[in-house]
Amino acid sequence: MTLPKHIAIIMDGNGRWATEKGLSRSEGHLAGANTVELIIKECLRYTIPHLSLYAFSTENWKRPKEEVTYLFELFCQFVEKELPLMQKEGIRFTMVGDKTKLPEPARISLENAISQTKDGKKLELTLAINYSGTQELLYASRQSAIKILSDPQNLQKIQSIAQDTNALTQYFTTLFNEENYTEELFRSSLYLPALPDPDLIIRTSGELRLSNFYLLQAAYSEFYFTQTYWPDFSQKDFEQALQAYSQRKRRFGKIEKKSNQ
Ligand code: IPE
Ligand code: IPE
Ligand code: MG
Repeated sequence: MTLPKHIAIIMDGNGRWATEKGLSRSEGHLAGANTVELIIKECLRYTIPHLSLYAFSTENWKRPKEEVTYLFELFCQFVEKELPLMQKEGIRFTMVGDKTKLPEPARISLENAISQTKDGKKLELTLAINYSGTQELLYASRQSAIKILSDPQNLQKIQSIAQDTNALTQYFTTLFNEENYTEELFRSSLYLPALPDPDLIIRTSGELRLSNFYLLQAAYSEFYFTQTYWPDFSQKDFEQALQAYSQRKRRFGKIEKKSNQ
């Protein structure tokens, strides 16, 4: 079976799962955290090297304050509880998203987990928190521009022609042309430049959209959608997603070779 190297999951349906059971939305999120633990163990078992989990989007701030507060408490509890397992199993914990706007205790416990697991070699576990694909692209384009403009050689040249508006405009056009402002430079400015694009993106709960997840990185991902709510997503569902992935023919724009060619 061909396995994906990077699986990204949009963990959706905690709220509906809870409502249908007469429980609070918080209880749904708590149940969802158990599924996270299960899926991490499955990735270790299948030796899948990268797992990304979409936990909180920049749009999720629009939810009621109590729900947001609970979610951040849960993230702290989760990483603290899982830290021994992560260290034991060789998990490297990483994060994508805007860390600067997180509640202080959450930022501290997430950063602590990042530094305590930095040598993990078996599985890179990336949590997307306060994440937006649009914001990541804006961030990368700003950073790329800063990299170009703050290059010492370029700075020197800019200073030397600073009084000549035409020469400056011309120089900027060259600095930002296809040869200088490249895809490689742009990608090197993403939140985690070394993380390969996801091969497989799973979304639970029956919604058929990306909701601002990995916009650039999803360019050639395979998608797997299931009706199952995230708290009910089981070992068997995970296996089914892997099975479905192994049947896909990924062409990346090419055509398939005939066997006698
Ligand atoms: C996903 O479950 C978890 C987060 C977005 C934090 P939801 O909370 O979106 O669950 P539904 O979609 O309301 O059922
Ligand atoms: C996407 O789920 C974000 C996460 C799973 C963290 P949402 O429940 O926020 O997405 P929409 O609002 O239904 O698109
Ligand atoms: Mg949802």
